[in-house]
Amino acid sequence: MQEVVLRDGLQSERAFVPTAQKIALADALSRTGIAKLEVTSFVSPKAIPNLADAEDVLRGITRVPGVLYTVLVPNMRGAERALNCGASIDEWNLVMSVSESHNLMNLRMTREQSFTQLAAVVALARSSPTPVAINVSLSCCFGCPVEGEVPPAEVHRWAARFLELDGVGGVSLCDTTGMAFPSQVQTICNEHLRRWPDAETTLHFHNTRGLGLANALAGLAAGIDRFDASLGGLGGCPFAPGATGNICTEDLVHLLELEGCATGVDLPALLEVSRQLAATVGHDTPGQVVKAGQRLDTKPAPDWLEGVRARALAKGGD
Ligand code: COA
Ligand code: ZN
Repeated sequence: MQEVVLRDGLQSERAFVPTAQKIALADALSRTGIAKLEVTSFVSPKAIPNLADAEDVLRGITRVPGVLYTVLVPNMRGAERALNCGASIDEWNLVMSVSESHNLMNLRMTREQSFTQLAAVVALARSSPTPVAINVSLSCCFGCPVEGEVPPAEVHRWAARFLELDGVGGVSLCDTTGMAFPSQVQTICNEHLRRWPDAETTLHFHNTRGLGLANALAGLAAGIDRFDASLGGLGGCPFAPGATGNICTEDLVHLLELEGCATGVDLPALLEVSRQLAATVGHDTPGQVVKAGQRLDTKPAPDWLEGVRARALAKGGD
């Protein structure tokens, strides 16, 4: 389970979340059993003001052994900041959109320009004295909010270009604005896994049209078991029109555990962290299990139930 609330979740929050609260949230999440934590993003503070404190957050967190710490890196400037931030980072999560229009909106570069710059970022990471893994998040793999359908061939072409670079260990297939649907997910994942059975593949869904968890199950059926998700279901790319929150981490953990998939996450502990999230961001969150409780968290029977039972029995019969 890969937790992205500190990056995807906070990037579109209007009110600045104080650095100390981000650090407290990161530290609390680190202790819930999640495998990977996306801590922040080395983007332009003008583009994403809420993540302007990336260096301070990274320097302030307490690393928990066994948790992988990753950061979003959109360009060379971001990579230089990651190298010089004074904190150890396990992975750089590079980002580019497979849709030309979204890449122009989000990164102000053509896809080809992004690729050239990110290939140089990969080379820089490989020459770094401290090893850093590289993942590439490919936005809009299941549809683009302005171009509409994105041909699956484009997804496979860009995945191949990155995975063929020495040093890139995995890609995330991202549904940036919740346009994916289950059979599409299965088709794209099947073909991706046929081509890249040994790459680390992650699925990143947004729940914009209520299909997020269904899409995750479709990806799981295709054989992918790494998921990005965001505490409370916060999230969304500010440069993708109509974007809304990621699939909610605790709702996904609840589903996967019911389906017999061990996530390694302590769900009660995660729900406790989620309960505090609304205060951190200053508004309610879309998460559902945190409000409804887990499936078998029963409610107390009403006082009058015994009276109803007694009257029913007094009537006789079955
Ligand atoms: N970190 C900090 N500052 C950065 C930066 C980075 N990674 N990349 C660019 N900048 C700064 C430049 O230093 C420059 O600053 P200045 O105006 O003070 O001189 C300014 O941003 C513009 O730089 P430029 O290279 O001309 O970029 P641009 O205006 O074409 O914008 C991005 C490109 C990448 C900065 C911008 O589009 C961006 O950060 N997008 C964020 C996308 C994102 O995070 N989306 C959500 C996640 S998918
Ligand atoms: Zn996202």
